Amino acid sequence: MNDEIRDWESAYRQLPYQEIHPHPLVLQLAERVDPTRHLHWLDLGCGDGRHLVYLAQRGWQMYGLDLAMWGLIRTGERLEMDDLPAMLTYGNMQKLPLAQGSLDGVISIKVIHHQVYRDIRKTFSEIKRVLRPGGLLLASLPQAPVENWKQGRYREVEAGTYIPLEGFEQGIPHHFFEQTEISECLTGFEVLNQEIDEWGYVCILAQNIQDAQ
Ligand SMILES: C[S@@+](CC[C@H](N)C(=O)[O-])C[C@H]1O[C@@H](n2cnc3c(N)ncnc32)[C@H](O)[C@@H]1O
Repeated sequence: MNDEIRDWESAYRQLPYQEIHPHPLVLQLAERVDPTRHLHWLDLGCGDGRHLVYLAQRGWQMYGLDLAMWGLIRTGERLEMDDLPAMLTYGNMQKLPLAQGSLDGVISIKVIHHQVYRDIRKTFSEIKRVLRPGGLLLASLPQAPVENWKQGRYREVEAGTYIPLEGFEQGIPHHFFEQTEISECLTGFEVLNQEIDEWGYVCILAQNIQDAQ
C-alpha cells in the first residue's frame, strides 16, 4: 500500500484523519434543531463521517454522500461501532440521488466550493430540489479575497476559482465566494444566520422558503 497522502481518498484510507471533532456550528445546530420536526438529513460530502456519525448518535436519520469511497468506508466503520443506521452513497454533489422535497435538512461543511462556479450553482439547485419547504441548510463556504492562494502554485481558472498545481488537492477547484455569489446561490432561501468561523469560512444557516410544487 502506498502511504503517501495525496488526496482525500488516501487521507481517509490512513486513519487517523486530522479532522475528528464536529464543526462548532454543527454542535450548535444539533442543540437547536428539534429532530421531531427536522429528522431526515443529508451530509453532503460527508468525508469520513465526523458530522454524520455525531448526528446519527443523536437519533437523526442520516444520509451521507461523497465522492471518496474510503471516506464512506470509514464512516460505515464508525457507524458499525455504535450500531447506528445511516444511508451512505458514492456520488457527485452535482446530481443528488434523492427525491424532490425528501429531506428536512442538509449540512455541507467545507465541500461545495470544490467546483467551478457553474457547478456550484447546480449543487445549490439540487439542494433546493431535495429540501422540503421549510427545510434547513447549514453550509460553510470560503470567502474572497484569498491573497495567499494567489501567490501559490495555483491556476486561476475563472474569477475566484483556483486549482492547485501540486500537493494535496492537486487538480481540485477551490472557489472563494463573493457575498453577491452567496446571495445568488441562496435564491429561494431565507438566511437565518451568517457568521465567519475560526477557519475563515462563511457559515450560513438558511431555510428553504420555496413552496412545494
Ligand atoms: C474538506 S473535505 C470535508 C469533509 C467533511 N464535510 C468534513 O467536514 O469533515 C471535502 C469532502 O468533499 C468531498 N467531495 C469533493 N468533491 C465532491 C463532489 N463533487 N461530490 C461529492 N463529494 C465531494 C471529498 O471527497 C471530501 O470528502
